[in-house]
Amino acid sequence: MTRFTGKVALVTGGASGIGRAAAIRFAQEGARVFVADLNLAGAEAVVAEIGNAACAVEVDIADAASNRAMVDAVIAEAGQLDIAFLNAGYYGAAEGLDTVDEAFFDRVIAINLKGTFNGIKAVQPVIAKGGAVVVTASAAGVIGHPANPAYSAAKHGVVGLVKSCVTAFAERGARINAICPGGVMTPLIGAPDVAIVAPGDLERVALRGMGSAQHVAEVALWLASPAAGFINGQAQVIDAALLSTFAPILLPVGP
Ligand SMILES: NC(=O)c1ccc[n+]([C@@H]2O[C@H](COP(=O)([O-])OP(=O)(O)OC[C@H]3O[C@@H](n4cnc5c(N)ncnc54)[C@H](O)[C@@H]3O)[C@@H](O)[C@H]2O)c1
Repeated sequence: MTRFTGKVALVTGGASGIGRAAAIRFAQEGARVFVADLNLAGAEAVVAEIGNAACAVEVDIADAASNRAMVDAVIAEAGQLDIAFLNAGYYGAAEGLDTVDEAFFDRVIAINLKGTFNGIKAVQPVIAKGGAVVVTASAAGVIGHPANPAYSAAKHGVVGLVKSCVTAFAERGARINAICPGGVMTPLIGAPDVAIVAPGDLERVALRGMGSAQHVAEVALWLASPAAGFINGQAQVIDAALLSTFAPILLPVGP
């Protein structure tokens, strides 16, 4: 399959987890991939894994200038940017309202929300006509997440950002969508970094439980492809029906 032959794809957070799986899959489908991450050595290892003229780029998404430099590097090297998967993110140690402090809140917002804003700002002026941006939010971006309210607030903000930027991208002939994964087995939650799963794992009936990085990557690829050309400004939940079937926690009302 070569859905992305001749296309240039940028993947942030590409050194690990969902981003690594997506970088591998974009390359398998013909794209020239720029693997961007704070962890340059990790990005370089993924580039060595995928070949296909891939390049590693160091970026701190929390820093606007670093995002601009990342996009400049893609344009200088490849001359175009067709797909941006703005996926890098940070969960930290789950901090509920009782323990979360200002420093943790600021860090989570700086990476997940401002970092996404920085990426969108850097990409929008150069994205190719017919291009697509996919942004990783979270299921915690559409429902509350008492274990980590800062993260949930940031990811809700990411969904709002995506919806608010649709017209700016449409003016360039490009689309932008968010994805909202439920629990995914990646290093973010202390799981091993498995990028590509056995085919049977993608085919089993999904009902709650944990997903794989590739489950999420495949949806990102599809949203970035022309097959999803009529999908714009959406927040696509990828959670094996977790939110649809979640048993509500019934708390007593009042003191
Ligand atoms: N794993 C899950 O359960 C889950 C669920 C919902 C959403 N997400 C989101 O998916 C995205 C990818 O997470 P993952 O699970 O693959 O995690 P991961 O930890 O495996 O990968 C995240 C990558 O982002 C990079 N990164 C972190 N901060 C960065 C920064 N400031 N600048 C550049 N790169 C930075 C890390 O170095 C790492 O390579 C994140 O946005 C995360 O919030 C994950």
